[in-house]
Amino acid sequence: MHLRVPDLLAVLLGVAHTSLATTPAPPFPSINLTSTTPISPFDLPALLPVPSHPNLAASELIRTTLGHYPLSIDGKNFEALALVFAADAVANYSAPLNVLTPLATIQAVLASSLEKVTTQHSLGTQVIEVLSENEAFSVTYYTATHFGMGVYEGEIAVAYGQYQDYWVLRHQSWKIQKRNLVYMGPGIGNLSIFT
Ligand SMILES: *[C@@H]1O[C@H](CO)[C@@H](O)[C@H](O)[C@H]1NC(C)=O
Ligand SMILES: *[C@@H]1O[C@H](CO)[C@@H](O)[C@H](O)[C@H]1NC(C)=O
Ligand SMILES: *[C@@H]1O[C@H](CO)[C@@H](O)[C@H](O)[C@H]1NC(C)=O
Repeated sequence: MHLRVPDLLAVLLGVAHTSLATTPAPPFPSINLTSTTPISPFDLPALLPVPSHPNLAASELIRTTLGHYPLSIDGKNFEALALVFAADAVANYSAPLNVLTPLATIQAVLASSLEKVTTQHSLGTQVIEVLSENEAFSVTYYTATHFGMGVYEGEIAVAYGQYQDYWVLRHQSWKIQKRNLVYMGPGIGNLSIFT
């Protein structure tokens, strides 16, 4: 089933859209973009159709902005996360970090939870849906490798997952307003390196 972008926006926002009445009911539940409940990976392929007229400029700005997330985290420049997240961002980092808000809390909690390790976050598979002039949604796979320090030198822990990000355009900059981090598989390696 092909969903036009306004239909997708309606579905993602969990509101009725008149054109949906003339087409079969979508095979997925209504989804609330600003909720901390992630979208099921099963639903993502149908929710994110290949756009026939992609908004290349917005997509490229979003991709480049998201690229500053690994640069900030791996550079341990947590202040620079302000380039990526809106000040009022809400981020569900899943257990054990859970829901972090606002940006100042995201910065402080990520800084302290990564204090004992250095990291490399590698972004992979990505789909960006520009929903309107000032809203977008993206799914981006990541592999996060954490390197132990001190007595844990040479030990690593690896996390696999995806970021589900809801973007807003504010003052001509795209920022993540809501993030859901979904782990894909168990943490691998020596988890003691964080302690
Ligand atoms: C979406 O979720 C947010 C946060 O939980 C809530 O405030 C809002 O009312 C929800 N919107 C809809 C349309 O259900
Ligand atoms: C946060 O996301 C996890 C899945 O990654 C989910 O199990 C949990 O219910 C979410 N928390 C909230 C408060 O929505
Ligand atoms: C983690 O690394 C420490 C230090 O090298 C080592 O003693 C310990 O056995 C490792 N644990 C696991 C689960 O590999």
